[in-house]
Amino acid sequence: MNAALITGASSGIGEEFARQLAARGANLVLVARTEVKLAQLCAELGARHGIEAQYVALDLAEAEAAARLFAETERRGVRVETLINNAAFGAMGDFIELELERQLRMIDLNIRSLVALTHLYLKPMRARGRGEIINVASTAAYQPVPYMSVYAATKAFVLSFSEALWAENRPYGVHVMALCPGPTETNFFAAAGVESRAPFRAMQKPSDVVRTALAALERRRSSVVSGWGNYLLVQSERLFPRATIARAIARALKNHYAKRDQPTFEEKTR
Ligand SMILES: NC(=O)c1ccc[n+]([C@@H]2O[C@H](COP(=O)([O-])OP(=O)(O)OC[C@H]3O[C@@H](n4cnc5c(N)ncnc54)[C@H](OP(=O)(O)O)[C@@H]3O)[C@@H](O)[C@H]2O)c1
Repeated sequence: MNAALITGASSGIGEEFARQLAARGANLVLVARTEVKLAQLCAELGARHGIEAQYVALDLAEAEAAARLFAETERRGVRVETLINNAAFGAMGDFIELELERQLRMIDLNIRSLVALTHLYLKPMRARGRGEIINVASTAAYQPVPYMSVYAATKAFVLSFSEALWAENRPYGVHVMALCPGPTETNFFAAAGVESRAPFRAMQKPSDVVRTALAALERRRSSVVSGWGNYLLVQSERLFPRATIARAIARALKNHYAKRDQPTFEEKTR
């Protein structure tokens, strides 16, 4: 069976990838931790579009998860023609106050598992001379983001890694692309422990993000920023020194995420 494999498919952007690819007739393998949501989505999409939808419930932050997932799709005879590395989470707050274990787990999921899955599924794609990989990064990849420091750094990794692999794999008929959404209406902010979305720009809908991604995939782009507003913001930020951008973002976010019971270094030294 040929299929698209989507990680983080139980909600948000990953679920929307599943919906839009199923509507195009693609068979699916959906991956996330919440089995009940995956089972429901598979049943719904299979019935509605006459496709084969399977799931694997797995915590991809675990050390051997990527290898276990690859072995499972091999065992089921699934040929993954499209891989969408979408599962990730963020955490907001002063780096020093966020739990270290959670930050390291973020690196395991957002980077380690994404690299492992890309390596495992890219090999057979190269051998077949065809295949597509979308790695979901973020507009946070383009600049340092104080109070989301580790998350933004993981996404900078994903963007750089994907653009490099795009060039490496072009001669072999395999297309690797980074998708960079801006703020999008999903569970992301709740999962990141954010109570107020106030400092963020207008939110996009997951359906718009995924439409942009699939159109860019057809044009064989190396990366795509979703939404004109996000694109213009990312481009305009390049005109300023990175330190200026970092200070501006710190000012915008600190009232929402920094602990305000103590003066910041900037306030103490002003
Ligand atoms: N929403 C935004 O504003 C925004 C902006 C830029 C980029 N992004 C990126 O978009 C992607 C999708 O996020 P989203 O916005 O759709 O957020 P979301 O609604 O929270 O979805 C995250 C998905 O990842 C899965 N997941 C989380 N931890 C996992 C783990 N350890 N193992 C396996 N699956 C796991 C979740 O399912 P389970 O909980 O069931 O495991 C869920 O399906 C992420 O890469 C995110 O960084 C989002």
